[in-house]
Amino acid sequence: MAVSSWVLVTGGAARLGREIGLAFARSGWNVLCHYRHSQDAAQATAAEIRALGGECALVGADLSQPRAAAELLGACVAAAGQAPRCIVNNASLFDADDAASASAETLQRHLATNAVAPLLLANALAAHLRTRDTPAPGGWHSVVHVLDQKVHNLNPDYFSYTVSKLALQGSVALQAQALAPHVRVCGLSPGLLYPSGPQSQANFDRASQVNPLRRPIEPADVARAALFLAENASLNGCTLQADNGQHLVPLARDVMFAIDENRQP
Ligand SMILES: NC(=O)c1ccc[n+]([C@@H]2O[C@H](COP(=O)([O-])OP(=O)(O)OC[C@H]3O[C@@H](n4cnc5c(N)ncnc54)[C@H](OP(=O)(O)O)[C@@H]3O)[C@@H](O)[C@H]2O)c1
Repeated sequence: MAVSSWVLVTGGAARLGREIGLAFARSGWNVLCHYRHSQDAAQATAAEIRALGGECALVGADLSQPRAAAELLGACVAAAGQAPRCIVNNASLFDADDAASASAETLQRHLATNAVAPLLLANALAAHLRTRDTPAPGGWHSVVHVLDQKVHNLNPDYFSYTVSKLALQGSVALQAQALAPHVRVCGLSPGLLYPSGPQSQANFDRASQVNPLRRPIEPADVARAALFLAENASLNGCTLQADNGQHLVPLARDVMFAIDENRQP
């Protein structure tokens, strides 16, 4: 009997999380689709995954809560009957601030959802696997921390968000060292994919061309990069940049603000 593989995709209801769930399902994986508020969208994504022939279970959690990661991993084991083979830490908070307006509250809020929860989910998976009598082959289980091209191409806009993603980026190597041989840990840095925050569609349409390939980044390509990290058992402690090379285009401000200051990107 074939061994079923389950992936937990946090923030899996819509946008990149939905693409990631669909990419895994197309490759024969079953999906644990995590959501917080987007239950209707999560159900729609689950229907798409089932139409592809995969199983899909919905798991809800507010990842800003200190115990959320451990409880979510427990809910996943209960729903799938086994630990997820991969966790894609995709859920993220992206609220605007800058270095001057960042506060203890904005920093802690971004760190809780964007760094603490992903790190504790990875820890919870490794802790669960350590208790098993029969260890899985090395490299079988993995965690993909979704980062951002911003961490390779710094500017001080979205300050608290960027600090949280930098913390997660730095932890890729730390967790790859600490959680081996039970869990591989890799990073995945997308570039601009969707309009976010105050960004208008017109601004997004221009900003999405600001990369060496001068065309929008395909979310499905980013999703397939997550699948590649999960399925290639030799990848550990590395980060893939799926961004049309956007990280090679330095800007003094976030691209959504930079293009309004300079109308010829
Ligand atoms: N969008 C881009 O252009 C872009 C660019 C570079 C990197 N990225 C990265 O790629 C990933 C996906 O981006 P995206 O734009 O698709 O994400 P998004 O739509 O901004 O957020 C994804 C999901 O995160 C969930 N979430 C937020 N706070 C949460 C909390 N406290 N607890 C549980 N879930 C929470 C939300 O779930 P609910 O809706 O269910 O509440 C939301 O749907 C993120 O890690 C992001 O940093 C995105």
